Amino acid sequence: MKVLFAVSEMAPWVKTGGLGDVAAALPEALRSAGIDVRILVPDYPMMQAAFPDAPGRATIPPAGGRLPGATLRAAHTPQGMPLYLLTCDACFERPGNPYLGSDGRDWPDNALRFGLLARVAALLAGGASPLDWRPDILHCNDWQTALAPAYLHYLPQQAGSTKTAATVITIHNLAFQGLFGRALLSALDLPERAWAMDGVEYYGQLSFLKAGLQFADAITTVSQTYAQEIQTAAAGMGLDGLLRYRVGQLTGILNGIDTRQWNPATDPYLAAAYDVDRLGGKAANTAALRAEMGLAATTKMPLVGIVSRFTEQKGLDLVIDIATELAALPVQLAVLGNGEHEMEAAFRTIAAQWPGQFAVRIGFDEGLAHRIEAGADLFLMPSRFEPCGLNQMYSLRYGTPPIVRATGGLADTVIDAADTRHGNGFVFTQATPAALLATIRRAVTLWHNTPRWKTLQRHGMNADFGWNSPTRHYTALYQTLMQKP
Ligand code: ADP
Ligand code: GLC
Repeated sequence: MKVLFAVSEMAPWVKTGGLGDVAAALPEALRSAGIDVRILVPDYPMMQAAFPDAPGRATIPPAGGRLPGATLRAAHTPQGMPLYLLTCDACFERPGNPYLGSDGRDWPDNALRFGLLARVAALLAGGASPLDWRPDILHCNDWQTALAPAYLHYLPQQAGSTKTAATVITIHNLAFQGLFGRALLSALDLPERAWAMDGVEYYGQLSFLKAGLQFADAITTVSQTYAQEIQTAAAGMGLDGLLRYRVGQLTGILNGIDTRQWNPATDPYLAAAYDVDRLGGKAANTAALRAEMGLAATTKMPLVGIVSRFTEQKGLDLVIDIATELAALPVQLAVLGNGEHEMEAAFRTIAAQWPGQFAVRIGFDEGLAHRIEAGADLFLMPSRFEPCGLNQMYSLRYGTPPIVRATGGLADTVIDAADTRHGNGFVFTQATPAALLATIRRAVTLWHNTPRWKTLQRHGMNADFGWNSPTRHYTALYQTLMQKP
């Protein structure tokens, strides 16, 4: 079985969130299961630096509209995963974030940049591919590659004479839809007839994600609960109607985590190694984290960690709202994140107000993310919605019980401590400061009860969140799709 995995970011080179982690781990897990997987990803400067000698493999002439020409370079990751790097200097030769300029706004030509990525994904999936390798399955991810199934639908010449690959689109986050003006239709080389309710039109705009949801043979999302939630008006972000219509093709498959990258027994970023049988080493990480973040050395109060994008989704405004109560509880807070400037400023303010007790680092720092997972006593994720969430699974594995809101993948992975036989963390339902505070209080009380705390840690550390189970589900889905005529 051959699978082309098309994606707009890939750890460790280009990562803005969980999508980059999944792109690094899921294809690799599928490959270990015997599937011939190759990844199509833009040739960003970080990729060029990592794979300077990757040879050109194919030239892609400019398509219609305003889509530029490009080349494909072929490379292999250190693990041996084949990559096709989509080189187009006008599109991808830019520093920093793959989606945003340094002003924090979307690059103005994102439609063409990711239209090109989707167009090339479709090209490689069809009979007119310039490569001698033809996938059975084209697996797209989020809005950036979601136009590919629409290209296969509308541009039969892309398909050539042979059967095209079956298509899968995975929704990692319904909040990002790739919405653009109608004028982009012809620029993206889509025909006029695509401007329809059962096409790419979405309330007067062109939606990349809707196009994918409309035309992909199968739709998946990254947890079972999120698969249910997105069919409701409350969480469907305007696409719930379409998702209900396509419910027969929609499945939720919980993400795994990379248990080699995220293993407290071998993690090179940590001050001390530990595991479920040698939990003692965790205390050294807590002390080191306090020192690194400029927090007071103490064993009298728990240290609460946060690693997050700063956005409405993550519910961190609730934490700001209860800062005074948290200081009095007391707990310490170690926060790493970046994103919305208001949220950055709010965390800076509380850190300045309670020095030694609250500390914040604004930025993206892989090593510190690992040290917070290991050093914190509790990990906080009060998300308003969370398609899957990886951090709560990292924290479970690191013996750092998570406090989460019952939504999406958080609901599917965290079991409240009230269940003494299975509990691995703390769960609340209402997205309110009061509900969050009550749950943190409950967690702090339990933290003072050492035997019960150890049991809670053990439940999380012993759970299997690896990629074996998701790999079986994706393989079964691919097989079903291949059997279709
Ligand atoms: P999302 O993809 O919505 O941001 P996830 O929990 O799925 O949420 O994944 C987030 C990933 O990004 C995790 O690997 C997390 O450690 C990482 N991450 C988020 N913010 C930062 C940051 N400021 N520094 C380092 N890693 C971060
Ligand atoms: C998105 C979601 C997150 C999920 C990640 C990987 O960024 O916000 O919940 O874990 O994608 O699927």
